Amino acid sequence: MAVRFIREDGDEVLRKVSKRVDVIDERIKVLLDDMAETMYAANGVGLAAPQVGILKRVVVIDVGDGLIELINPEIVKQEGEQIDIEGCLSIPGVAGEVKRPARVVVEAQNREGEKITIDGKELLAIALCHEIDHLDGILFKDKVIRFIDRDEMEKNK
Ligand code: CO
Repeated sequence: MAVRFIREDGDEVLRKVSKRVDVIDERIKVLLDDMAETMYAANGVGLAAPQVGILKRVVVIDVGDGLIELINPEIVKQEGEQIDIEGCLSIPGVAGEVKRPARVVVEAQNREGEKITIDGKELLAIALCHEIDHLDGILFKDKVIRFIDRDEMEKNK
């Protein structure tokens, strides 16, 4: 396992569309391991492969309920809406309010290639949407309805 370098806003790899994973080989499993380690080392709740420079549809998330590994994730259902403050490991020091669905259902594959379904609300719904956006070259700042400055961030802590 290894902590990988996190690409930051301005790096064009973050704006590319990632490719589906057809074969889950050893390289993908090492990628999943490294992404989890990188996410935890950076105290993040999610990380998408393009953030470590790999244009493949691979995501890791942990909102405090354990590690979720997603290969080829797709939102198959969404309902409601919520507005909450987001940040991104690729855009340090920037935060803002984004409108997301209140609940999403995501289908993906796990590292064994089995189909899994994740039903997420609250922070998990936000993380699923945020990370899947990364796979399509979309950053949360594209969707911010109000940026939050540092003073306000401190107050919210
Ligand atoms: Co992000």
